[in-house]
Amino acid sequence: MTKKLILDLDTGIDDTLAIAYALGSPEVELIGIVGTYGNVLLKQGVRNDLAITDLLGHPEVKVYAGLPHALKKDSFEVLPVSAFIHGDNGIGNVSIPDSSRSVESESGVDFIIDAVKTYGKDLIYVPTGPQTNLAAAIKKAPEIVNEIGKVVLMGGALTVPGNVSPWSEANISQDPDAANDVFRSGITATMVGLDVTLQTLLTYKETQQWRDFDTPAGRFLADVTDFYIKAYETTAPGLGGCGLHDPLAVGVAVDPTLVTTLPINMQVDVEGATRGRTIGDGDRLNDPQKTMQVAVGVDVQRFLSEFMTRITSVAQNK
Ligand code: BDR
Ligand code: CA
Repeated sequence: MTKKLILDLDTGIDDTLAIAYALGSPEVELIGIVGTYGNVLLKQGVRNDLAITDLLGHPEVKVYAGLPHALKKDSFEVLPVSAFIHGDNGIGNVSIPDSSRSVESESGVDFIIDAVKTYGKDLIYVPTGPQTNLAAAIKKAPEIVNEIGKVVLMGGALTVPGNVSPWSEANISQDPDAANDVFRSGITATMVGLDVTLQTLLTYKETQQWRDFDTPAGRFLADVTDFYIKAYETTAPGLGGCGLHDPLAVGVAVDPTLVTTLPINMQVDVEGATRGRTIGDGDRLNDPQKTMQVAVGVDVQRFLSEFMTRITSVAQNK
């Protein structure tokens, strides 16, 4: 049976590429997108999800609104650095038409729970923003931890420094409490963090191939990604391209052999100076059952080849 996939996105340029990767992957069926906050406000992210799935020729993908801010906060504001990297509208300030569709009336959190009940082990959940929605779903229906297939998340940094502080990665730092709840819940999860995503880089050479198709999808994907590559020239000079964070998480969800992993029960520091750090959970060090895997190596060439094949198939669509 084709695996069912849910993306939980703060869309976002690499989140956009994650949508395209999923739509270009026949091994999985994208059954819904849950919106979150982070690179953009929740409302903008959900708007982008609807508009992007339309533009990429998949208006059948339903979009659900998740929670608008971290579990222990009562509001959220986009950080200036997020707007610099992703644009004020999250998609590189590129204009695409609003969708005529609306967000679903069911809440994103309830959709997660219902999807686990319906698809069980055939369901893969891929959060590429803060983990607030998944943490809320686990709080409401704790049994889903044992019923879901797996979670493959983009976030964290185990063997390399963070990108918002020396110890914290952006998605985790938005809601360390939620990520810690997920990590310590016992859910089967693979962490695809900066350890690997900063090894998978894209350049203008590849985006030109999409532009050359001269399709609305090809032009859009090239324009937004070029904005992102340009931002990386300022935020990470010398890296040699933009990090394919979110599409790598989808890639690993589709084909886990793209990465080598370390089995380790993880936690997120929620107190003190290192709040937001992803690290082994001392309390579960001697637990023989390891429920998390942390990606520490990636087959860069194979992933980039898969990435280009899949995005190209979507970009070519007239
Ligand atoms: C992560 O943070 C967000 O800005 C990106 O979309 C990605 O999910 C990288 O740290
Ligand atoms: Ca993201």
